Amino acid sequence: MNPLYDAKIAGTGKYVPKKIVNNLDLEKKLDTSDEWIRTRTGMWERRYKSEDEASSDLAYEAALRALEAANLKAKDLDMVVVGTISPDHSFPSTACILSKKLGIKDIPAFDLSAGCSGFIYATSVALQFISTGNYKNVLVVGVEILTTLINWQDRGTAVLFGDGAGAAILTRTERNDVSKILDSDLSSDGTFGELLIQEAGGSRCPASIESVKNNKHTLYMEGNKIFKLAVRSMQASCEKILKRNNLDIKKIDWLIPHQANFRIIETLGKKLHIDSGKVIVTIDKYANTSSSTIPIALDEAIKSKKIRKGDLVLLVAFGAGLTSGSILLRF
Ligand SMILES: CC(C)(COP(=O)(O)OP(=O)(O)OC[C@H]1O[C@@H](n2cnc3c(N)ncnc32)[C@H](O)[C@@H]1OP(=O)(O)O)[C@@H](O)C(=O)NCCC(=O)NCCS
Repeated sequence: MNPLYDAKIAGTGKYVPKKIVNNLDLEKKLDTSDEWIRTRTGMWERRYKSEDEASSDLAYEAALRALEAANLKAKDLDMVVVGTISPDHSFPSTACILSKKLGIKDIPAFDLSAGCSGFIYATSVALQFISTGNYKNVLVVGVEILTTLINWQDRGTAVLFGDGAGAAILTRTERNDVSKILDSDLSSDGTFGELLIQEAGGSRCPASIESVKNNKHTLYMEGNKIFKLAVRSMQASCEKILKRNNLDIKKIDWLIPHQANFRIIETLGKKLHIDSGKVIVTIDKYANTSSSTIPIALDEAIKSKKIRKGDLVLLVAFGAGLTSGSILLRF
């Protein structure tokens, strides 16, 4: 179906906590080494929240910056969608808390759980509401405080995560505007759900002394299996969206993949036959911030003027669920 209206990304913003934790800091806490972390993951440092920070605080800062970049006020927003798996609370949603902080109400606000694909899913949902003409300006946020879910008994996962938020304002655009979101692709496969899971805290395994003692509230991941599935599903999503839009990978100016492991990014790049200079990488500075890796990388690439008006950009993610998806846009 042809959309009634096009949408574009009118502004982006990011916020990362001030506290920097580098690999040497982790050496003091775990049986690990700076060398192992750098060579196996490409991570050098990551940000950890301060004691009084929650996801909505990070989201708020990123949202303010995105609004400013889009030249809009919070009251101009028609909807707020937050992609997160580390909300302030199970309920109310972080989107509602964020709306309160922004001083807005009487518009839809909800969280969306799609693991590290949260920003891609949330952007795609926002896009549908704009293309039907229902809404004009939608705030989309990817925010995560995964450091509260770290299992410090598991060095294989403990070193991988950081905290951060990225936001984008999606706006209805004029038909003659070159900037627009061209397509989105979403997918999932629940059969692999147990490879990447926070077991306790939900209705399947409610919080108990036993569940806390057994570390069931922390993140569990089978890294090796996830690695292969990440490459395979992100490659499939990129190829599908390129084919559907009759585009060769050579036409893509920038690829922004989810930042989970530099080796995943590198392998994906090789499989797609994209020039490595066109792949945006931020994993060295922020590690894996789950649903916020893509909006943070997008914001940095825009603000540093790597991405310029008219550039063709491909965003692709993969995460718990398992979920995957991509967004193709002309900036
Ligand atoms: C987690 C990950 C970095 C592990 O890398 P890997 O190369 O697969 O490493 P392995 O798990 O096979 O472990 C290799 C060795 O390193 C060791 N090791 C694991 N973590 C370590 C650490 N932090 N420091 C030092 N050694 C470590 C293991 O114990 C193992 O030792 P052994 O050979 O003596 O048994 C990698 O699998 C990965 O990035 N997976 C996907 C992550 C991802 O996508 N996550 C989010 C999804 S959105």
